[in-house]
Amino acid sequence: MEQKEQWSSKIGFILASAGSAIGLGAIWKLPYVTGMSGGGAFILLFVLLSLLIGFPLLLAEFIIGRSTQKEAISAYKQIAPGSKWHWIGYLGVITCFILLSFYSVIGGWIIQYIVFCLTGKVGGGNTDYEMLFMESVTNPLLSVGAQALFMIITIMVVGKGIQTGIEKASKFMMPALFILFIVLIIRSLTLENAMEGVSFLFNPDFSKLNSESILFALGQSFFLLSVGVSVMVTYSSYLPKGDSIVQPAFSVVTMNLFISIFAGLAIFPAVFSLGFEPTAGPGLLFIVLPSVFEKMVLGTIFLLIFLVLFLFATLTSAFSLLEIVVASVSKGRGGRNRLSWIIGILVFVVGIPSALSFGIWSEISIFEKSIFDAADYLVSNILMPVGALLISIFVSYRMQKSILKNELIQKTKYSFLFEVWYFLLRYIVPLVIIVVFLDVTGII
Ligand code: PFF
Repeated sequence: MEQKEQWSSKIGFILASAGSAIGLGAIWKLPYVTGMSGGGAFILLFVLLSLLIGFPLLLAEFIIGRSTQKEAISAYKQIAPGSKWHWIGYLGVITCFILLSFYSVIGGWIIQYIVFCLTGKVGGGNTDYEMLFMESVTNPLLSVGAQALFMIITIMVVGKGIQTGIEKASKFMMPALFILFIVLIIRSLTLENAMEGVSFLFNPDFSKLNSESILFALGQSFFLLSVGVSVMVTYSSYLPKGDSIVQPAFSVVTMNLFISIFAGLAIFPAVFSLGFEPTAGPGLLFIVLPSVFEKMVLGTIFLLIFLVLFLFATLTSAFSLLEIVVASVSKGRGGRNRLSWIIGILVFVVGIPSALSFGIWSEISIFEKSIFDAADYLVSNILMPVGALLISIFVSYRMQKSILKNELIQKTKYSFLFEVWYFLLRYIVPLVIIVVFLDVTGII
């Protein structure tokens, strides 16, 4: 039996968990949805939901992992032996497997764009990004090849282990991500008419919010914080028993919120300043934003900065998705590197149809959705909410209150906050999830 792996420091754990949270959600999905749903009002809603729903769930997952010191499946078995609760762990592992299979497709697009920048295929003021985007996503060899490259990087880091792989990479990538964002924000805010974009982001126009965007914000608060799939159970199991989890959870939520707002501040002032529309939808980051950079002095360099930070954010999320699967198969028995390759290659193979669904397989549809969209729908609208619901019920109804209290307020003075958290997890979180779930699946 190998010695149990652990984070070398609390900051390593916080950065890796924040790395898992901050990803395509904060930098791609949130900005384009904000653009389409009236700016500030949507952001405000998202902040509220992150604090009231996401944060309690994150703490719940941290409690399960830190108290048992076990990966996702064994952790539930240890707390509720002889029951079926550990199926929550299996559900998380399967969800992460599918999620990574299509997440890596977008990771591949980012890599393609980086190569375009480095080889001078873009820049010069007249690149047609709409065409370039179509070319890159429809070309089967390019998109599958770039997806493979993204998976190889992920596999190599996860194969190295917790301290020398995931922690080391996150400790470099996350601070770099913050710094690159600051550079971009300064550039964006110093453009002419930049304030138009800022006021779009911060002046809430509640009339633009409709029930659809409210429900979407709810769904995104799980996706953006990586909760509901037991990834955070696995990550917190590498934390020494005596460490506090409240402050790390709070740090992860605030970092995620900051980056979400940073993304808006980097994108919208530039979009407005150069006369583009913020309502472009999913193409905002791959078509509109590069076209915006194209019009700036040294634009290709800023585009490259943006793409590198986008890649770092996506990779640190992918590490956590592969890690939960590898950890649940290896169960601390070693052989991590070999398992990472085997599982990583399987994920890649399962993801190929998603990559091809933008091009040669675009005709294939599942419930009237492309393969990629169907996989995304299954994960974001069904598996993640179900997982989050089960976790909130497991922790607040199945685990003993006295144990939870002991786990949570071990090292904090704020015991009254415990009651607030417990109330939210026991009543508000399940209620909200059930309402959202019934709505998105069209049942109500
Ligand atoms: N939080 C990631 C994002 O916003 O892109 C997505 C994600 C990663 C969800 C890891 C779930 C997860 F376990």
